[in-house]
Amino acid sequence: MELRRLGRSGLMVSAVGLGTNNFAGRLHDEAARLVLNEAAEQGVTFIDTADVYGRGSEEGTGGSESQLGRLLAGRRTRFVLATKFGLPMTESLLEHGASRRWIVAEAENSLRRLRTDYIDLYQIHYPDPETPIDETLRALDDLVSSGKVRYVGHSNFAAWQIADADWTARTEHLARPISAQMHYNLLTRGITAEVIPACAAHGLGVIPYFPLESGFLTGKYVPAGSGRGRLAEGPRAAEIMTESNFERIAAFGGFAAERSHSLLDLAFGWLLSQPIVGSVIASASTPEQVRANVAAAEWRLPPADMESFGAL
Ligand SMILES: NC(=O)c1ccc[n+]([C@@H]2O[C@H](COP(=O)([O-])OP(=O)(O)OC[C@H]3O[C@@H](n4cnc5c(N)ncnc54)[C@H](OP(=O)(O)O)[C@@H]3O)[C@@H](O)[C@H]2O)c1
Repeated sequence: MELRRLGRSGLMVSAVGLGTNNFAGRLHDEAARLVLNEAAEQGVTFIDTADVYGRGSEEGTGGSESQLGRLLAGRRTRFVLATKFGLPMTESLLEHGASRRWIVAEAENSLRRLRTDYIDLYQIHYPDPETPIDETLRALDDLVSSGKVRYVGHSNFAAWQIADADWTARTEHLARPISAQMHYNLLTRGITAEVIPACAAHGLGVIPYFPLESGFLTGKYVPAGSGRGRLAEGPRAAEIMTESNFERIAAFGGFAAERSHSLLDLAFGWLLSQPIVGSVIASASTPEQVRANVAAAEWRLPPADMESFGAL
């Protein structure tokens, strides 16, 4: 497994990471254990979760972290563990956002659920328009100073928010964010005009989420049938499984096949051929999917192919 430096930091993450927003919700302990064990076996060291994952499951909001806490017992130090805060945990206005009050409280909650005494990467899940960024960054810096958090990152920030956060951290001498998580894959490339250059200018590693567009970029869904999987069964089906998206993935599949590769290889290879990408955090339902994803992540497209693919 290739290890990559995350942004301008010293933190090394596995090129293929494991997203766990299906833990506790779709995967009960035993299924999740099999996925996690296979990921570890395949050299995956980077795991991404969030306080809010697990909502709607038997275990409830926080379930993904709690499940990970159980499954990582005795092997925590072998993984780089990333979590997030900021989305509403309850209906209370006190239990969401990026205020100092909530960050300090929620970091303790995450540590308890994860059964660990440190978080490797603590990410602001969504920008909080109500809280000044200097308040957020100072609270995070205090967590870094106290040893409860190693690195700070953010997610779903616009280009101006990326620049604002970095400059605020630098001028106030606070821990600078090292990573930006965002919706980025073969189909969704709108952010390349502004957000990716902002990440490059501010030394952030990019962590693409929905790298497989919830399974659509595996090629397992066909226009005539719904296929099996979370995409077909979930709320994103109508948005993603459109005629024009099926046409686009047929073109992507053709491009990959001309180079003796699969659509899945292209989904991983196109992201990992960009040096700014730190880790591709696909989720998986089974050990077989983990193995397929790690194998697909071997391909690096030569620059000419990256350029010609841009036209598709
Ligand atoms: N920062 C944010 O706002 C944000 C938002 C969303 C997600 N995330 C993070 O990004 C991670 C990944 O997102 P995601 O899981 O929603 O989307 P994804 O990685 O694009 O899709 C993963 C899903 O595709 C299917 N799949 C995976 N590998 C496969 C394979 N080899 N063959 C066939 N099917 C395969 C599985 O579902 P089925 O088996 O059910 O088809 C799996 O759960 C999350 O776990 C989370 O950590 C972050």
